[in-house]
Amino acid sequence: MSRVISFENVSFSYGRNKVLEDIDLFVEKGDFTAIVGPNGGGKTTILKLILGLLSPQKGELKVFGQSPCKSRIRTGYVPQFSVHDRSFPIDVENVVMQGLIGNTSFGPFYSKNVKKKVADIIEKLGLTQRMKDRFGDLSGGLKQRTLIARAVVSQPELLLLDEPVSSVDSSVEKDVFEMLNLLNKKMTIVLVSHDIGFVSKYVNKIACVNKTLVIHNAGEITSGIIEDAYRGKQVAVNHSCGI
Ligand SMILES: Nc1ncnc2c1ncn2[C@@H]1O[C@H](COP(=O)(O)OP(=O)(O)OP(=O)(O)O)[C@@H](O)[C@H]1O
Ligand SMILES: [Mg+2]
Repeated sequence: MSRVISFENVSFSYGRNKVLEDIDLFVEKGDFTAIVGPNGGGKTTILKLILGLLSPQKGELKVFGQSPCKSRIRTGYVPQFSVHDRSFPIDVENVVMQGLIGNTSFGPFYSKNVKKKVADIIEKLGLTQRMKDRFGDLSGGLKQRTLIARAVVSQPELLLLDEPVSSVDSSVEKDVFEMLNLLNKKMTIVLVSHDIGFVSKYVNKIACVNKTLVIHNAGEITSGIIEDAYRGKQVAVNHSCGI
């Protein structure tokens, strides 16, 4: 097994506000990891550290064995609350194509290769019929699918998603997770979620973060652990009795 993400004793503060304290987090190739915890607990900050958008003041952080900035090209990202102006005339195909900016030279005419990559991922994610639809007119679930397609069109080895299902109903949530399950066969996934009960059916690791971080194997998750994670307690895990 090879290590994709490694946080060792990492602390991060915004000014004087310490958001993460001495966290250890290890993600292996093929893992599907959820990061859960209360609002303001530091979940989005962890993803931004993995992307190299922020740097820790203390500790060591490696992604694919190197600095996060160097490995960003290998990482796809679906940010929290992606805001797209409803009236902005961009269709599904062009939103997905944005995922290749930086990987390819862009001009007014996209190369055949780029168009093919975009069409392939659109088909894979079941969006072919909606390719020319305006992004702003899509339902919440189809918007989320399109944003995931944009994040994976460059075939990243690591996919980061920040609350991808926060604005959709439970049937769409299931649909998105089934799709992520398929993508997980090809890429390592780290996903931020508030719905720990739901994600524990799909992921193999759960990181509970509230300034400090405790990692659990999905099979260990109980309602007690869930409550503790949200109350801000340090969570104790006794592996032998499965609590
Ligand atoms: N750019 C910033 N400058 C200063 N403080 C920030 C900044 N971004 C976040 N914070 C603060 O850092 C803390 C952690 O924020 P973060 O966004 O990582 O939390 P979160 O767990 O993702 O929360 P949520 O569930 O609300 O998305 C919060 O107290 C937040 O107010
Ligand atoms: Mg957040």
